[in-house]
Amino acid sequence: MNDPFDHLAAGLDRRRFLQLVSAAGLGLLSSGGLWGAEPSAQTPGSRTPSETFDIAIVGLGAQGRILLEAIQKIPTVRVVAICDIWEYSSTYVQRLLKKSDILVNVYEDHRTMLEKEKTLTAVIVATPDFWHAPVTNDCLSAGLHVYCEKMMSNTLEGARSMVAAMRKSGKLLQIGHQRRSNPRYIVARNRIVRGDAKALGRITAINGQWNRAAGTDFGWPAKATMKPDHLAKYGFKDMHQFRNWRWFKDLGGGPLSDLGAHQIDIYNWFLDAYPTRVMASGGADYYQNHEWFDNAMVIYEYQTADGPVRAFYQVQTTTSAGGGYFEQFMGIDGSLKMSENPKITALYHEAAGKSWDDLLRSNVVVANKAAPAPADTAKVDARETAALASYQIPVVMSKAIHQPHLENFFDSIRGRTKLTCPADEALRSEIAVFKAIEAVETKNPVICKPEDFIV
Ligand SMILES: NC(=O)c1ccc[n+]([C@@H]2O[C@H](COP(=O)([O-])OP(=O)(O)OC[C@H]3O[C@@H](n4cnc5c(N)ncnc54)[C@H](O)[C@@H]3O)[C@@H](O)[C@H]2O)c1
Repeated sequence: MNDPFDHLAAGLDRRRFLQLVSAAGLGLLSSGGLWGAEPSAQTPGSRTPSETFDIAIVGLGAQGRILLEAIQKIPTVRVVAICDIWEYSSTYVQRLLKKSDILVNVYEDHRTMLEKEKTLTAVIVATPDFWHAPVTNDCLSAGLHVYCEKMMSNTLEGARSMVAAMRKSGKLLQIGHQRRSNPRYIVARNRIVRGDAKALGRITAINGQWNRAAGTDFGWPAKATMKPDHLAKYGFKDMHQFRNWRWFKDLGGGPLSDLGAHQIDIYNWFLDAYPTRVMASGGADYYQNHEWFDNAMVIYEYQTADGPVRAFYQVQTTTSAGGGYFEQFMGIDGSLKMSENPKITALYHEAAGKSWDDLLRSNVVVANKAAPAPADTAKVDARETAALASYQIPVVMSKAIHQPHLENFFDSIRGRTKLTCPADEALRSEIAVFKAIEAVETKNPVICKPEDFIV
């Protein structure tokens, strides 16, 4: 698998490791608190102006605005154009930028933007999923690098066409699985789960979920209602479908794709393997006006270099029970509950597992707090006390969650590093999501052959 961060797992000396994490905007935790960040040769703002380049953003809804906010913290790119089919979205963002004295050209159709904008180096795509392939492929054909949100597409054919367009153009295509650039995830994978330490020992099982409480559909201000012919021109039946595209089969991929894609990608990346079989159950059980199922429970089987792994994944959109969203890797010596939300992340040592004393000394893991003593030690079986011994991963991130992924994209364009989530790597991982959707829809186990993951 593509892994530009293997050096983090390679047993770096402390000074070099600090330089790397400092450049990535990290703090390292020791038992006493944060290690001070050392100065970095790549401090933002120290680059020469010639390294600054122009970009555009296509799709200015919830995610487009989150990405824009992160981009505004990266002073070496200039947003010069924005594009959205909904004037309400583009006007909102145009006004927002104006407050920071940033004037941009505004477009409704990305093709017009590509014709008119001659200084662009890259485009950020944050449209609904079914527009990812057409917009991305047009941008690549126009000779531009692209950062496109996940899922790559709502169809496997669409996603494959993006990899083909990337290869044909010779340009970079980063997919928005931002955990791949998150320093907390990189250290968790490369120093705790994999690498020399392998703190968890042999991993035998995974448990993950994204559970969110029931909600109501998105609405829109009456004055911002688009005309039927305008909606139809861009593939939407009506305003309700336009605002709630995630739930419609021709437009999005449903919750397994929308939420699960991030986490199923983490399963594959951390195991360095793809599933061999998937079983799943799900249904459109609660919401009356949605096409996609609103819940799914999935079991993946993996054959890894260390042996078989069984991985459970569930997505629920009617309850937040079970503690939100995380991926928990369970090994013989310990388990890591990983989450993009650091408050959910936890590291447990099996009381009967291999000692972590050396890992504590070398800061691969840090002690969280003194484990509470069992009320009556004599009655506690050492094999069942893992949850009592709590540790942390040794990293905090001080940036917005998408910023490192965008920085990785921009720095890759400058030839300084390699993409952490290029489209071919992302597609291999997203194929596992398409397989789970197939298992839910057919109500049958789906075999995943090694050749299914050739892209
Ligand atoms: N990486 C993450 O953590 C993350 C989080 C949320 C959403 N996303 C992804 O971001 C994308 C956008 O999601 P969202 O929540 O912002 O949706 P949204 O509905 O809030 O916004 C989509 C925007 O795209 C515009 N649009 C639709 N078709 C267009 C076209 N052809 N050209 C230009 N603009 C068009 C809409 O008018 C709207 O303003 C999706 O692919 C989603 O999966 C990623």
